[in-house]
Amino acid sequence: MARVFAIANQKGGVGKTTTCVNLAASLVATRRRVLLIDLDPQGNATTGSGVDKLNLEHSIYDVLTGECSLVEAMQFSEHGGYQLLPANRDLTAAEVSLLNMPAKEKRLREALAPVRENYDYILIDCPPSLSMLTVNALAASDGVIIPMQCEYYALEGLTDLVNSIQRIAGALNPELRIEGLLRTMYDPRSSLTNEVSDQLKAHFSDQLYETVIPRNVRLAEAPSHGMPALEYDKQSKGAQAYLALAGELSRRQRRSARAVTA
Ligand SMILES: Nc1ncnc2c1ncn2[C@@H]1O[C@H](COP(=O)(O)OP(=O)(O)OP(=O)(O)O)[C@@H](O)[C@H]1O
Ligand SMILES: [Mg+2]
Repeated sequence: MARVFAIANQKGGVGKTTTCVNLAASLVATRRRVLLIDLDPQGNATTGSGVDKLNLEHSIYDVLTGECSLVEAMQFSEHGGYQLLPANRDLTAAEVSLLNMPAKEKRLREALAPVRENYDYILIDCPPSLSMLTVNALAASDGVIIPMQCEYYALEGLTDLVNSIQRIAGALNPELRIEGLLRTMYDPRSSLTNEVSDQLKAHFSDQLYETVIPRNVRLAEAPSHGMPALEYDKQSKGAQAYLALAGELSRRQRRSARAVTA
């Protein structure tokens, strides 16, 4: 049964999509079955997976509105090795279209139910807002992975996000957990980075991933080739960091499974 993780942060440009695409490819490299859901009208995860967002027969929008099944909208990412539910600008209409639908916050959760057992991991790339799309992602997920840059305002935004996650968990999905906080675009030479990093360790010790993602130009270049960094330049520091993250994620999973059965 797949573990479903939303990659979320209402702050823009913190590395959500980069994390989603590269973590998906890294989990595939460790023989996991992965489905990546692009839930952002920007369609960056779609493009970054090598799929043309302007020529989609079906997208996640059609799935949410019940116009097609999830399997009908799915495409295989050749370079990533995972299944993709693509998105494009059509998804901006979802906010309004979902408004009058029954169980509007649970459309994604319901759509995923029949395919959950076909995957080990389902990763959802969220838009930079706490919109109805993000609420659908959180209602469908077991955990939230929060990518963040270690800068001053990041901590303020984090408090808002954690409060929203708790509210949504209370109302829609009591199982929802903060799976992990991921430091992205990390520069160990910056004193502010180290200061914020220390604060994160103090407040979120268990939830902070040991793995940090360095600022790495290969991670920024790879999407323009429609590839994860692992395919574009396997030896790059960025690709290796996401492989390490996939390892840490799996180890944590095994530990918590043991804790449950012990
Ligand atoms: N570790 C990194 N090193 C260098 N560049 C990075 C790194 N992570 C992300 N980037 C670049 O930073 C920009 C923002 O990253 P990304 O698109 O992943 O963020 P996002 O949180 O998904 O943004 P949005 O909120 O718009 O969806 C992109 O141009 C991306 O290529
Ligand atoms: Mg994004």
